[in-house]
Amino acid sequence: MSVELSIIERYTSETETVNLSCGGNLDFAQVQPGDVIIDLGCGRGTETILAARKAMEGKAIGLDITPKMVQAAREQAALKGVTNAEFVEGALDSLPFPDSYADVMISNCSINHVSDKEKVFREIFRVLRPGGRFVVSDIMAQELLPVEITTDPEEIAACFGGAIPSDEYFRAIRNAGFLELEILKERSYLKKGYGLISRTLRAYKK
Ligand SMILES: C[S@@+](CC[C@H](N)C(=O)[O-])C[C@H]1O[C@@H](n2cnc3c(N)ncnc32)[C@H](O)[C@@H]1O
Repeated sequence: MSVELSIIERYTSETETVNLSCGGNLDFAQVQPGDVIIDLGCGRGTETILAARKAMEGKAIGLDITPKMVQAAREQAALKGVTNAEFVEGALDSLPFPDSYADVMISNCSINHVSDKEKVFREIFRVLRPGGRFVVSDIMAQELLPVEITTDPEEIAACFGGAIPSDEYFRAIRNAGFLELEILKERSYLKKGYGLISRTLRAYKK
């Protein structure tokens, strides 16, 4: 099964689970009324809805590759009476938004699923307006994971196999055009005996 299908299958079956996140990031996003915020890999839309409330006359758009997640997110927004949150199906490495469209882009535990992380950060750079910022929470590996894990679609879908070493992850961000990177939060843990780090990062498009 392809990685993309494995991800969609996993998240389709996980629509009802309680918590998908690896760390909140909205507190660091400095959302202002009127802002356009994009939440990449929005899942059930919890952070998108919070962002929409902060944006007031602005709006928040959640993007996710799993149709069932997008549907669940739309239902959540309707249930909560939030009218300035929109949800679209799409892929992180090919964003369906124009250049310089967003003030803020957030992403919580989603970019690790994509093999070409630099492509995702290039898309983030393209879609952010000059002066805009991203706040991304994601999983990194303490060291290169073995190939049996990095090529296993199920481990990738489980927020594990796609974790790359920190220096590689930071290089992808720099190569995309973000010159200064802040590490706002980090936590180390073990999975199947391998060291992982959950980090929250912020950078501005200068
Ligand atoms: C761990 S969940 C996190 C969901 C949400 N951000 C949260 O914190 O609750 C990862 C999400 O990323 C989505 N995803 C994985 N790969 C993707 C891709 N290539 N493009 C868009 N979304 C993707 C999955 O469908 C899933 O909803």
